Amino acid sequence: MKFHVLTLFPEIPRAFFESSIMAKAVDRGIIAYNLVNIRDFAYDRHKTCDDKPYGGVLGSKVPGMLMLPDPLSLALESVGAVPREIGGQEARPRGGKPQRVIYVTPSGKPLTQALAQDLAREEELVFVCGRYEGIDQRVIDLYVDDEVSIGDYVMSSGELAATVIIDTVYRLIEGVISRESLEEESFSDGLLEYPQYTRPEIFRGLRVPEVLLSGHHELIRRWRLRKRIEKTLAVRPDLIEKARASGSLSKETEKTLKEIENGNGSDPHHRGRPEEG
Ligand code: ADE
Repeated sequence: MKFHVLTLFPEIPRAFFESSIMAKAVDRGIIAYNLVNIRDFAYDRHKTCDDKPYGGVLGSKVPGMLMLPDPLSLALESVGAVPREIGGQEARPRGGKPQRVIYVTPSGKPLTQALAQDLAREEELVFVCGRYEGIDQRVIDLYVDDEVSIGDYVMSSGELAATVIIDTVYRLIEGVISRESLEEESFSDGLLEYPQYTRPEIFRGLRVPEVLLSGHHELIRRWRLRKRIEKTLAVRPDLIEKARASGSLSKETEKTLKEIENGNGSDPHHRGRPEEG
């Protein structure tokens, strides 16, 4: 998988590509990346990349600036993006390579685990990071396949958002991290993760739940499932509703969920209370 990031500030995503698990995946040749400085494609003396929007900005005397379409489109074409034939029959040809162009913007569709899994099937992803008030709509119309938002809030630029998306995608690529870690984690089956503990057994008076010390694998598995359901019910009941509606909850999850909802969800194995005496 190759990530291209088109940006005015390549040092922001570079730090991520050069660190930790990502750096190892790059070293091992599983992941490749290409940071493109859009300013390299500005042709005037001052390397201008922005200008005032037509129509001004309502309610403001100082218009927010917009990224110029020319340097951005040249940067896109430098990584192999081809403009769509507007009004033509054909979708944008991809030159035989599965490549998807993503513009990160708060007005995009939300990033979800399902979208990350979908993006992980591509051979190349091209990220366009906006600064200022955004980019010219014609660049979106001509080159962009997906507009993606990482949440309902506005950041000052797209670099961090693109990096968040890259992080959710690259770890799904075969060989980056183990299959088992991916299967048990939050969202993989509509439930959040169970709580985890490591040494010491008593920390500041709080004990590790007894069941985890029992060595009884079946009891531990059931306890973890119950904890996942309790947590999801408490902080993301919408996820339970969604999973229920799509029929994706297992019989055991449904049964445990009903027990918890009927109030007999007391957990005989949780001894996370402070140590007495
Ligand atoms: N750029 C600024 N804010 C953003 C967000 N929430 N998601 C994606 N890109 C952004």
